[in-house]
Amino acid sequence: PRVAVVVVAAGSGTRLAAGGPKAFVGIDDATILRHALRGVFAAPRAQVIVVAPAGREGDARTEALEAAGDRRDLVSVVTGGASRQDSVAAGLAALWGDVEVVLVHDAARALTPSDVFARVIDAVQAGAAGVLPVLPVVDTIKRVSGSTVLAAVDRSELAAAQTPQGFRRDVLLTAYEAASQEFTDDAALVADAGHPVRTVAGDPRAFKITTSADLDRARALVAGDPV
Ligand code: C5P
Repeated sequence: PRVAVVVVAAGSGTRLAAGGPKAFVGIDDATILRHALRGVFAAPRAQVIVVAPAGREGDARTEALEAAGDRRDLVSVVTGGASRQDSVAAGLAALWGDVEVVLVHDAARALTPSDVFARVIDAVQAGAAGVLPVLPVVDTIKRVSGSTVLAAVDRSELAAAQTPQGFRRDVLLTAYEAASQEFTDDAALVADAGHPVRTVAGDPRAFKITTSADLDRARALVAGDPV
């Protein structure tokens, strides 16, 4: 395929405090990773590289093969690193030769609808070097120093960044080679390397499961409860 999705799932889940790696925590009868991969495999056809916690590669492969349906031949599993950036780099090393568009997606954004993937792929294929799905910021944001409020920040200039983030392959690989510090996401790393990044619409369901309150929200959404 001309598209690959790197699904980073190697986080420890410290803030979720579920007693193990977050990707393998259940939402319903299916794990966070399984839900994330269902969205990936419902999206346009792509190589899918799952970046697993060390020691859990076999479990990650089982999850991926179960979610893949008739796309089992598109699954790769690699071992993650100490930081998210290290994990993405490990995933990029497994890209197949014909891939031209690379998406990087947090497994923790387990309920991301497949149309977000399609929007990001379309924007890269239309010529963008980097593409970032965003949501408007609804809260009023303040600049603070300790407990002192310094200033309000103009909300119209802000957007909340989600994944999957998409890039031209050459752009992402050269930016990763050039990166000499840790960035909070791939769009920031690519922008620091001098490439323009444009936005597409994100989706509220692409929220990141970080805390137990987020997990409760995901469980309610999957159960069909009003949230
Ligand atoms: O910790 P946080 O939820 O922000 O991590 C975002 C995503 O990056 C998660 O899907 C997590 O599994 C992944 N990650 C990783 N390797 C790390 C740290 C985080 O793959 N070392």
